[in-house]
Amino acid sequence: MTSATQHKAHLRAYFDGVGFERWSAIYGEAKLSLVRRSIRNGHTAMLNLVGKWLDEHYPQVHADLQALDAGCGPGLLTMELAQRDFSVTAVDIAEQMVTATRQKLQSVGLDHRIRTVVSDLEHVSGSYDVVCCLDVLIHYGQPGFSSLCKHLAQLCKGVLIITYAPYSPALALLHRLALLFPRSQRRTDIQMIPDHVVRQTLAAAGMQIGRSTQVSNGFYHVTLLEAFRTG
Ligand SMILES: C[S@@+](CC[C@H](N)C(=O)[O-])C[C@H]1O[C@@H](n2cnc3c(N)ncnc32)[C@H](O)[C@@H]1O
Repeated sequence: MTSATQHKAHLRAYFDGVGFERWSAIYGEAKLSLVRRSIRNGHTAMLNLVGKWLDEHYPQVHADLQALDAGCGPGLLTMELAQRDFSVTAVDIAEQMVTATRQKLQSVGLDHRIRTVVSDLEHVSGSYDVVCCLDVLIHYGQPGFSSLCKHLAQLCKGVLIITYAPYSPALALLHRLALLFPRSQRRTDIQMIPDHVVRQTLAAAGMQIGRSTQVSNGFYHVTLLEAFRTG
């Protein structure tokens, strides 16, 4: 097994086990530790911004518009996309995440708008108007990061929206500090990627970079970036 395959196997086992419980709590309404509460609030702020960008790009959505929620987790963005009338493909490497997404959409009668797939993103094919990959690439260092990013760009014929963990010495220190918390309160290990690497990777995949902004709250720090397929 290569180290990339091992890393994915580790992520799958984590997000289909203890990680499923942890992240469902973070994305839900349970009482949380300080670290995780800051992650929940940061994630909510990031999702609100994604919703705003989507509304600007697609003020009028119809069911022919295809969206990919790449690494859907328990389905918060899938819900946002389905509520806006996109036809959504929600993919995750962890079966429990995909099941939770389907159940969430079923509970509000929107499951007819979604297709759920348990898969590694690298095996997903198709062509989508919108590809969103939120808080997934934060788990990949190089070369896995660029490989996934390039594949997502290939799946996109319109707008690509991603988050990644930006590199700076101050953030590197913060992430090291987070490791001092007891394991039960910590966040998942994340991999920081310098901005220029992300931009070069997307440009090489034929994407034009649009807006990017930092979303920071406590222990939650990501760069939210949009890119467009040109030509
Ligand atoms: C921190 S959660 C983010 C969930 C969701 N995107 C959100 O922001 O609400 C990361 C998710 O990425 C999924 N994931 C990680 N690597 C993946 C891969 N190679 N293919 C598909 N899903 C992946 C995990 O299983 C997990 O559900």
